Amino acid sequence: MTSAEKTALSGHGVAAPVGRDRELRLIGLFLEQAATEGGALLLTGDPGVGKTMLLDVAAAAADKAGTRVLRVAGAEFGDEANFSGLSGLLAPVLDHRRQLS
Ligand SMILES: Nc1ncnc2c1ncn2[C@@H]1O[C@H](COP(=O)(O)OP(=O)(O)OP(=O)(O)O)[C@@H](O)[C@H]1O
Ligand SMILES: [Mg+2]
Repeated sequence: MTSAEKTALSGHGVAAPVGRDRELRLIGLFLEQAATEGGALLLTGDPGVGKTMLLDVAAAAADKAGTRVLRVAGAEFGDEANFSGLSGLLAPVLDHRRQLS
């Protein structure tokens, strides 16, 4: 990854993860493709390995590119509310639901 590419992905007030050039490159490619075609990217790894840090970089880059970023954190299974994750994710944009066709 060139320093220009790294700056493009990481230079949004979010610290750049050390030694994650490959992951940053994949995230950059995903964001580019998802902007026009949509898509999903599943990020997995051991506890503390830096998943949230990479998500912070991805979210900041997407936001900078003009993409609306919605975030939600998982809740313990058995939480009293069904679909609490989906509900939390969509709550900020519920006012726009009439624009859906
Ligand atoms: N590549 C990295 N470069 C610099 N700091 C890192 C890197 N990876 C992780 N860290 C630091 O390690 C700590 C844990 O990272 P983070 O919270 O992103 O991990 P996580 O995979 O989301 O953990 P969890 O599984 O607990 O959610 C944070 O302080 C983060 O800044
Ligand atoms: Mg995390």
